[in-house]
Amino acid sequence: MIAIIGGTGLNTFSDGEVVGERHNHYGYTSASIIQSEIDGQQICFLSRHGNPHTIAPHQVNYRANLWALKQLGVSKILAVNAVGGIAPSMTAGTLVLPDQLIDYTYGREHTLYDQTDNKLEHIDFSYPFSSNLRDVLKRAAVGCSLPLLDKAVYGVTQGPRLETAAEINRMDRDGCDIVGMTAMPEAALARELDMDYASLCLVVNPAAGRSDGLIAMDDIRCVIDAGMIKVRALLIAALAELG
Ligand code: HPA
Repeated sequence: MIAIIGGTGLNTFSDGEVVGERHNHYGYTSASIIQSEIDGQQICFLSRHGNPHTIAPHQVNYRANLWALKQLGVSKILAVNAVGGIAPSMTAGTLVLPDQLIDYTYGREHTLYDQTDNKLEHIDFSYPFSSNLRDVLKRAAVGCSLPLLDKAVYGVTQGPRLETAAEINRMDRDGCDIVGMTAMPEAALARELDMDYASLCLVVNPAAGRSDGLIAMDDIRCVIDAGMIKVRALLIAALAELG
């Protein structure tokens, strides 16, 4: 089964039934998981920040979320992330499919290998996003004539505050094109659980120091509202490709 993990601006996807348990040995999932049928295909949806949106990026129980999806038989995850743009091409409103990430987060429960079942594996994470799912999303974007940049390094910061301009300059020197707070440890946990994972990002603001002014939440909200309409269309097209 395919799951969509919705980020900021995508707290719901389509009407359906609550499935699975919210509680597992890692704690509570961010929200109930909703299963629905889209064009004859069963999919699961989970709102990463809860519904309503109240859980900060560093407080999301990524392990409970990913474990719960695995228990439901999910093998492919399309994750949606709102990000800031660092590279000049990453302007607000751009849809981006990152192919790499750098993890700057700290203090998050970031692995399932914590001795609960006396297992340890060092997963390969050279290419953190599934090339198969990335190809599906690229084809879907062409199919619905939505521009999609398909190469970017996603720098994952701790939040919830936004970055300083100097931090963004450092991330730029590191090779980051976009900055967000939620791709990790989500992507790594998906790999630990052997689930394909791709992140579809919407750039919602120029990163700190990359515009003339400060970052205004009102501007971000407008970009999110318009951008998530495109994200939904792209996801529906991707599901059709996968079905
Ligand atoms: N920085 C970090 N995370 C974000 C940003 C940003 O500028 N915009 C949206 N998520």
